[in-house]
Amino acid sequence: MTNLVEQILGKEAIAAIRRPVETAGGLPGTAYTSAEFFELEQKEFFPRTWMGVGFECDIPNPGDAMPIMVGKLPIILVRNAAGEIKAFHNVCRHRASTVLTEPSKGLKTLTCPYHAWAWDLDGNLKAIPFFDGTKDGRKTDLDWCKFGLAPVRCAVWHHWIFVNLDGNAPPIEEHVKPLQNLIVGTEIGETTVGRREDWAFDANWKLQNDNWETYHHIWVHKGIFNKMSDDLELKTGQPWTETLQQDSFVTLKARKGRPPRTNSGGKDDVAEPLPSIPLAPGAERTICTSILFPNVTVTVTDNHLASVITDPIAPDRTVAKMGFFFVGEGGTAEKYAPAREQVLDRWLGKSRLSTARDGIRSQDFGIWEEQQIARHSPVADEVVFSPVWERNIHHFHNQLLDTIQG
Ligand code: FES
Repeated sequence: MTNLVEQILGKEAIAAIRRPVETAGGLPGTAYTSAEFFELEQKEFFPRTWMGVGFECDIPNPGDAMPIMVGKLPIILVRNAAGEIKAFHNVCRHRASTVLTEPSKGLKTLTCPYHAWAWDLDGNLKAIPFFDGTKDGRKTDLDWCKFGLAPVRCAVWHHWIFVNLDGNAPPIEEHVKPLQNLIVGTEIGETTVGRREDWAFDANWKLQNDNWETYHHIWVHKGIFNKMSDDLELKTGQPWTETLQQDSFVTLKARKGRPPRTNSGGKDDVAEPLPSIPLAPGAERTICTSILFPNVTVTVTDNHLASVITDPIAPDRTVAKMGFFFVGEGGTAEKYAPAREQVLDRWLGKSRLSTARDGIRSQDFGIWEEQQIARHSPVADEVVFSPVWERNIHHFHNQLLDTIQG
């Protein structure tokens, strides 16, 4: 695969990425704009990873199912009768129609719309009506066991559903370990969904990962991050977060001594503040925003989680599946609505429009779309990183190459 990567990116660009961050370059423009590189990611990168594909709350009850696309592969996510989440290739074993065509609830079977072959929610073939000319198709020699829906390796960690298409990624426990270690004692399992939203932006999916630095905050998020940034960023030029990189993980972790008020909906903001995420006895609170490569971001504040799962649709088109999670009734109760809305205003903007650039998310989309335009220029092949602020991005580019080059 090395040859193909070299053909697309160029040997010089790869050598530049491999240099220490102080002198490194980044992925060249073609990695963001070309169909070839996008195709390469679909074949040689995403299948080897634990790709985030949805939130557990998207299919909350037994019998809930939804069709998704992972690149060009149609996949079914379904919650079986026992309440477990399973993933299958969304391909009928008769003559390869998709089986599930829309999000559904209360299913007992997954039934193909073409000739009504049907499977239970664990993928076992249950019906092949009239296949052999009889009503229940029981006279055929067909080995029913061989024609179950083809499973996809799937794992759930708290709110997140992951799939590993090639089946060879390390166990999910290892994948999430760096994040789990960072927030040890923070009981994120106590949070439940308060808001789900899907927004699209016209830029490459990698630009979200390239954004995991706080260097841009005081400019892109003017008016939102100023309070947090003033002390360290404006007065001393030093980031208010420290960066950490490990395997498929990078993070921005609030430095000790930062003001605890890192979000909205707290006691200084509203009469009824949101409940804090509980801490285990003796645990210290960690405020951080992290990425589990390739495509899952997890922001842990003191009173909510915010997450984006990016879904790469095309080199220049990405869907951001966003989830916001609160403690106890924080996500649902009327008494917490002012605090909850304050949090959502901050992330999604008061307009709640992906194009309005009045919240953190849409402000980021705006600058990523500007970057996407610039990436078509040959000048964009030469970028540099700040060793103070941008080590995460250097790590991401190297990790992507490591995985593709295998
Ligand atoms: S293609 Fe699905 S039942 Fe025939």
